[in-house]
Amino acid sequence: MTKQLGILLMLLLFFVGAFSQQKTIDQRVDSLLALMTIEEKVGQMNQYTSFWTVTGPAPAEGRQKKQYEQLRQGLIGSMLNVIGTENVRKVQEIAVNETRLGIPLIFGFDIIHGYKTLAPIPLAESCSWDLDLIEQSARMAATEASAAGINWTFAPMMDISRDARWGRVMEGAGEDPYYTAIVSLARIKGFQTQSLAANNTIAACAKHFAAYGFAEAGKEYNTVNIDPYTLHNVVFPPFEMAVKEGNVRTVMNSFNSLNGVPATGSHYLQREILKGKWNFDGFIVSDWGSVKQMVAHGYAEDDKQAVKIAATTGSDMDMESEGYVTYLADLVRKGEVSESVINDAARRILTVKFELGLMDDPFKYCDPTREEKLLYHKEHKKLAHEIAKKSIVLLKNERNLLPISSKQKKIAVIGDLAADDNSPLGSWRIGSDDHSAVPVLEGIKAYTKNYTYERGVALKNGKTDFLHHVKLNNTDTTGIGKALRLAKSSELVIVVVGEHGFMSGEGRARTDIGIPHLQLDMLKQIYEANSNVVLVLMNGRPLDLSWAEEHIPAILECWHLGTASGNAIADVLFGDYNPSGKLTMSFPRSVGQLPIYYNHYNTGKPFIPNTDIVFHSHYADQANTPLYPFGFGLSYTTYEYSDFQVALRDANKVKVSFEIKNTGKKAGEEVAQVYIRDIAASLVRPVQELKRFKKVALEAGASQKIEFTLTEKDLGFYNSKGLFVFEKGSFDIMIGANARDVQTKRITIK
Ligand code: GLC
Repeated sequence: MTKQLGILLMLLLFFVGAFSQQKTIDQRVDSLLALMTIEEKVGQMNQYTSFWTVTGPAPAEGRQKKQYEQLRQGLIGSMLNVIGTENVRKVQEIAVNETRLGIPLIFGFDIIHGYKTLAPIPLAESCSWDLDLIEQSARMAATEASAAGINWTFAPMMDISRDARWGRVMEGAGEDPYYTAIVSLARIKGFQTQSLAANNTIAACAKHFAAYGFAEAGKEYNTVNIDPYTLHNVVFPPFEMAVKEGNVRTVMNSFNSLNGVPATGSHYLQREILKGKWNFDGFIVSDWGSVKQMVAHGYAEDDKQAVKIAATTGSDMDMESEGYVTYLADLVRKGEVSESVINDAARRILTVKFELGLMDDPFKYCDPTREEKLLYHKEHKKLAHEIAKKSIVLLKNERNLLPISSKQKKIAVIGDLAADDNSPLGSWRIGSDDHSAVPVLEGIKAYTKNYTYERGVALKNGKTDFLHHVKLNNTDTTGIGKALRLAKSSELVIVVVGEHGFMSGEGRARTDIGIPHLQLDMLKQIYEANSNVVLVLMNGRPLDLSWAEEHIPAILECWHLGTASGNAIADVLFGDYNPSGKLTMSFPRSVGQLPIYYNHYNTGKPFIPNTDIVFHSHYADQANTPLYPFGFGLSYTTYEYSDFQVALRDANKVKVSFEIKNTGKKAGEEVAQVYIRDIAASLVRPVQELKRFKKVALEAGASQKIEFTLTEKDLGFYNSKGLFVFEKGSFDIMIGANARDVQTKRITIK
């Protein structure tokens, strides 16, 4: 009896302690708010960029002087893009020592896939289907960023997009809401862990809320009009999981208008859904200048009205529009904005600062010895290498051209990107150093000396940077002659082509998603000269690879793989690592098919294959299917799925089991996927929905039994009012290696 009593007492003390700790933060926020003027509360809601680098339109000339004055007046609550502990300390010292209340700033940064040591771009990393590794990747990023003085990242981006024309598909986790939700949760855990107070953890930011990825025609910042049904079933799930299971401490709203209302001024999104239905208790930051952009949207007469709308509808912090700091205090004094609005926003922001431990030790992230020790740490480079290997997707491997034997003689390596130590870093590398990636050539050198390199045609003209478009070379074919002669005289040709690192990302929507013209021309001519071609692709979005798929015997999708790029690519080329990546976005046959995605509705006149009848859902001039489906990826071995069973269990549960066998000669890892289809419901349901997956490592000849139980939570859906419903009836359960190659069994729940 005493033992149980002891445990009960311990539990009681624990909860009282935790509650009193939280009560302490609430109390401390209350006491601080009681001391603050209206201007100082508004100051917490104001975020400026530094002058060390900008990720948006550069601040107006001469603003620096005003910025430091406002800093000393306590009119800035946060800064972004401040690089290094020395600079962070410099600014923090002003905030802490020269303002009336000494409230420290919170320093934000776009740590999208690493700080100094870069992991693969998020879309590539999502193709690893390795949640533990993805969490470790975020942990590594947080460790380096926090060592550099940063305590808040504007990540993970969790925008669902089905359109490869949109440049920011590189930043998310692909087209599926379930998979994007669990990948984003892993990233949030990696950034925040369970203890935000530790000096190696940082606040995460679920972005962009909401539906930015549905920009019409994939055009950057473009209009979004989607129905509530799609919002609740496709767009919201990752954000809801981030709030409810990830305890994400911040959310960033988005530039786009959604159904006629700019997200930054959306009461529905910010107060009704996020802070209301989901009870989000962190704070919302606007996107760069999106408060004032409501004037351009035609949603506000002027900046002052934009400020009023944004603040009252729940946008707690104003990134870089200078709107709050200019108008909000006045609006409150005139009674046009209730003081409760700024009290709530300031409370949310101060609470996160307390949770981070900044209020007790504003310089806890400013230890130069940690910075020196942890940035580019060798363990981080090893991890980046591990993730990069697992993010590579083998799309084709005829005649087993891959892996390349280390005895292979007369290898030609051709392509500008093969020597490029910058593109693999992708476009979101502002914390890292340009030209810090391992190029493919260096990776190959570690495996063989039997290669000769020729650049072939140049990918671009002139220098490139974060703020400006890459100037593609579309005219100069210098170098192609030498490349062709080399190809002709070689036994095997590795061609490295694709996109420069700054051809995808924010502001980089494209109407042409093919391999850039001269590179494709060169590839075709090389293939004519020698058909033993291994194509290595570097890109930040699904490309139109239809010509390559038809002709080239071996194709590796290598994305922009970050710091360890060349080493990871070489490991796969020479077979040290058996590729295990699988696509998380469908690859179209042509840009005309976009948007294309696996979890589409069936329509009333579904596609009829092998007919020239016109009256069914299809294109007259293009196949209906993607070139490579969601979940697709090959291996240097083969796998067999067998003994597939489904069985009803009590409480509307469905037990799914099957066996996977490695039927090849090499060990490998396979991502087995489970999909469902609700055959008939009160609203049409997708022809497939991913509901489970498991990545299994199998030695040659080995097999493993896989079992899952699906519940109402998996089989149900949100109706147009946002209510979750489960409806009995028939369901197809599918298992397989990707969305196309599946085995199906039907089950009926009565
Ligand atoms: C950018 C992006 C956003 C980023 C912010 C700060 O415009 O839209 O994702 O976090 O500005 O750099």
